[in-house]
Amino acid sequence: MAETFRTLDDLGDVAGKRVLVRVDLNVPMQDGAVTDDTRFRATLPTVTELADKGAIVLLLAHFGRPKAPTPDYSLALVTRPYEHVLGRPVRFIDWEGDADSIATLQPGDIAILENTRFFGGEEKNDPAVAERFAKLADLYVNDAFSAAHRAHASTEGLAHILPAYAGRAMEAELKALEAALGEPERPVAAVVGGAKVSTKLEVLRHLVARVDHLIIGGGMANTFLAARGLAIGKSLAERELTGTAEEILDAAERANCTVHLPYDVVVAKEFAANPPSLRTCNVHEVAEDEMILDLGPAAVEALADVLKTCRTLVWNGPLGAFETPPFDAATVALARTAAALTQEGSLVSVAGGGDTVAALNQAGVADAFTFVSTAGGAFLEWMEGKELPGVKALMR
Ligand code: 3PG
Ligand code: MG
Repeated sequence: MAETFRTLDDLGDVAGKRVLVRVDLNVPMQDGAVTDDTRFRATLPTVTELADKGAIVLLLAHFGRPKAPTPDYSLALVTRPYEHVLGRPVRFIDWEGDADSIATLQPGDIAILENTRFFGGEEKNDPAVAERFAKLADLYVNDAFSAAHRAHASTEGLAHILPAYAGRAMEAELKALEAALGEPERPVAAVVGGAKVSTKLEVLRHLVARVDHLIIGGGMANTFLAARGLAIGKSLAERELTGTAEEILDAAERANCTVHLPYDVVVAKEFAANPPSLRTCNVHEVAEDEMILDLGPAAVEALADVLKTCRTLVWNGPLGAFETPPFDAATVALARTAAALTQEGSLVSVAGGGDTVAALNQAGVADAFTFVSTAGGAFLEWMEGKELPGVKALMR
């Protein structure tokens, strides 16, 4: 990495200093309970390190996409659950009288400030809002990679006002991503799955020029199969994008990137759990009334052989309709191969984005990958080769 960023190692003595730490507390909730606390856990190294060094830790975060300040978007809702995960007391501080409340905090104290998006100017990166935040603290730490694709006052603007540092989670993300696509050990394989090609066109365009093997799965593989002239029955596909898919296949060929499309598939007449019409067939044998719902076992075996020749893997998106059994089989099998190769030390495996973490958790292998990103949109934009404004603002 030519450019570099400051980390907590560069902070110096923080005892008694107020540190604004941008974290991502945007966790999924159901009936008042947090259903996945991964993002909470990601913040723990930075928060405990700063608190243990005697900093006054002020957590800055957004929550949902509120149009106006309302109680159902208040970060007060996550303060208790967060405190539970952290295992230390956490104060909640409203935007009214916040400076006075902060003045009562002692070194080592931790507080969550109210939703940054309660300020209309936050998402517009309004300098006045960044100043409003900056006045509260001496230093700024950004530990929210998963919000780094947003050029908002709390993710970007602030870094230009206060001395800015990457937190531990941000640091780990940036190092892992650099190892995966910056200057990776070759050969490099990428798995790109998910329902729609349209959401990942830029990812595919960027990857074909950078990886040696591109493995396409999920509903988006169907669009590529259609582009190659195969009959895909009533499979989910974006038929209007077959031209674009062809362009991507041509670009891959020019760049010496081998694109792997399934040659056997799991099909059914209806999309349901374990449907009676379930069968595995060659990709050329899909009937008009069938739909492709997963890669077949022969394809998975061939892909496992590809991964065995690779040194680096970047993974985004499931290979099949993995929420519905047995269409999780290919994703689970290939993820287990990647995990085993990682554990043997022959593969650096980095995964991220939306459904991906859920799929790897389902396969029981998330911990066996080299790195699993907490980010959804930010991971995808990074896979598109875009510069993330929140990251860029930390570079020196
Ligand atoms: C996320 O949940 O993807 C991040 O927290 C960013 O949220 P946003 O998509 O509402 O900006
Ligand atoms: Mg998002």
